[in-house]
Amino acid sequence: MSVTVVIGAQWGDEAKGKIVDLLSQEADIVGRFNGGDNAGHTVVNQYGTFKLRLTPNGFSNPRTICVIGPGVVVNLATLIAEIETIRQAGISLDGRLWVSPRCHVVMPYHPLVEGIYERAKGAASTGTTGRGMGPVYADKVSYNGIRLADLADEAALAEKLGVQLKVKNALFKLFNIDELNLQNIIQEKQAQFAQIKEMVREPFGLVQEALRKDARIILEAAQGSLLDNDWGTYPFCTASTTIAGGAAGGLGIAPRWVGRVIGVAKAYTTRVGAGPFPTELLDQDGEALRQAGAEFGTVTGRPRRCGWFDAELVRFTAQLSGMTEVALTKLDVLDGMPKIKIGVGYCPKGHCKSDLPGSEVRLAHYWEGDARWLEAQEPEYIEVDGWMESTKDVRAFEQLPKLAQAYVRKVEQLIETPVGMVSTGPEREAIIPVPR
Ligand code: GDP
Ligand code: IMO
Ligand code: MG
Repeated sequence: MSVTVVIGAQWGDEAKGKIVDLLSQEADIVGRFNGGDNAGHTVVNQYGTFKLRLTPNGFSNPRTICVIGPGVVVNLATLIAEIETIRQAGISLDGRLWVSPRCHVVMPYHPLVEGIYERAKGAASTGTTGRGMGPVYADKVSYNGIRLADLADEAALAEKLGVQLKVKNALFKLFNIDELNLQNIIQEKQAQFAQIKEMVREPFGLVQEALRKDARIILEAAQGSLLDNDWGTYPFCTASTTIAGGAAGGLGIAPRWVGRVIGVAKAYTTRVGAGPFPTELLDQDGEALRQAGAEFGTVTGRPRRCGWFDAELVRFTAQLSGMTEVALTKLDVLDGMPKIKIGVGYCPKGHCKSDLPGSEVRLAHYWEGDARWLEAQEPEYIEVDGWMESTKDVRAFEQLPKLAQAYVRKVEQLIETPVGMVSTGPEREAIIPVPR
């Protein structure tokens, strides 16, 4: 089976882009199956540093076809700008980028509607990226979406947009926001569509043929498992399916083709936006992780919330997606930490027995769907000694400091999933295979 799915095992920004870029050197197809330009995937390779939101991270291999599946929502301005960035780096995407006409289009009203809800929620707001994701997916599932294919036909587009503006402009009036003009949107979207229309073609047939030939296919998720709309910390989540199961629907690839599921997890934890985060560090250790890991959002520039690795949550997300392995990234960020903690379970706030050897409380309540339960929990930790040596130039597992090796082995024992590779720097080469 030739399909590998790469997903985030935490709350996003786990370095999926780096891992996909690495794997894409051997890939025939790289496909994105969910999310939109709320994602920001950084790759550092021979062409430079790229922070792409929509283009699959197979772009730098001239032999790799990049596919954007129907599960993705497209902001045309972002996509056009990315294609230009890639072109300016001397990489041709000609004939290599396929965007499904089924993809829904982010319209100018989507971020505005999102803003209305965020402001109305006040202190309880989600802390979204402001890219209109909730509203564009809401329109999609309530049969009010506009797809790329619709942009080709002006009359049909005008009719669909007219209905949407009738409703959305009434809402804007209520909230003192300037109404949007139908003709302006039609002109803008058609002009943008004209720039990419050769790439808008359904990749389904191409992908099916590739599957028959046992081609190597990598499917790249956006966001992280704990932001999944069904399984994440709802309502502090995103609008799409971020777990491995989403790859099948989002690209039209049947689950039976998927042989490998790589969950990308940081060696600690970060989160952007609001919502429960039991192992969050609000002290100097949190600040040390933020500085050492350069933890500032790719899309919004917001400081990311930082905390210790939460093994119990990653054990859960590993089960959710049937991860065959985990890629443990940013291990080097822990290089300067004299003591490192790992969350192994929970107890109600104020009731933790600090030296309990292992977790007494597992995620049963969370499994019942109650994300607020997590907010009322304190993690139980184990503490290990840090290695206090640089790992950034290490390329073989045996050459890692013994304590760093022990940390990796402890993590895989706790998450009940093998760690297949460890990353110790942003560059493609900074990767260490983990022996079995
Ligand atoms: P993604 O959204 O999952 O692709 O992750 P992001 O690109 O948003 O965030 C990961 C950040 O960590 C990027 O700035 C990467 O360049 C950087 N990065 C990736 N792997 C490593 C690593 O092993 N060590 C360090 N220090 N940085 C890394
Ligand atoms: P990548 O692919 C980290 C978070 C937002 C917010 C919540 C909902 O780079 O890992 P949305 O704009 O999706 O409606 O926001 O989800 N979020 C991400 N956090 N990485 C991402 O993507 C994210 N995409 C969305 O911060 O909390
Ligand atoms: Mg990111």
